[in-house]
Amino acid sequence: MKNLVLTGFMGTGKSTVGKILAKKLGYRFVDCDAQIEKEEGKTINEIFALYGENGFRDIESRVIASLSQKSNSVIATGGGAVLRKENIDNLRKNGVVVLLNADIETIVQRLADKTDRPLAKGKSAEELAEKFKSRESFYANNDFAFDVGDLSPMNIADKIIDLYKKL
Ligand code: S3P
Repeated sequence: MKNLVLTGFMGTGKSTVGKILAKKLGYRFVDCDAQIEKEEGKTINEIFALYGENGFRDIESRVIASLSQKSNSVIATGGGAVLRKENIDNLRKNGVVVLLNADIETIVQRLADKTDRPLAKGKSAEELAEKFKSRESFYANNDFAFDVGDLSPMNIADKIIDLYKKL
């Protein structure tokens, strides 16, 4: 079966929902950021500090190209993976791309005291909203979008499975 690929801004619940989806579908779960950290032997913060955002994106693209070869996997991408078209093109070759959408207030709340995201750390609500807005057209490249609203991760996973099975 085709992979189920989750995209979406930081804090939309890709990893949490992805794990549940994988369990329910009997798929392997892969988190792109965790895979990057494993392959590089460094945290995402360290990678950004050492190589900058561009260096991180190069590693991310390499990891995504390799993960895209798999099947029967739920793949949670990093929030910026959509910025390079080659990543989405690769992921779509053998995967259904599902966008997780949340409103910016929820995202800001969820990211408030997190320190493991270099592009969100220390950013004001306005700055995060600006980044969110600037990425809208990139997130539009999906097979279907899902508004997480107030649903629990378990509920979100069930609804996504219904949609995925209808494709
Ligand atoms: C990023 C999102 C992060 C991680 C990196 C960059 C982004 O992943 O890949 O910090 O550019 O939005 P999450 O969306 O899992 O937080």
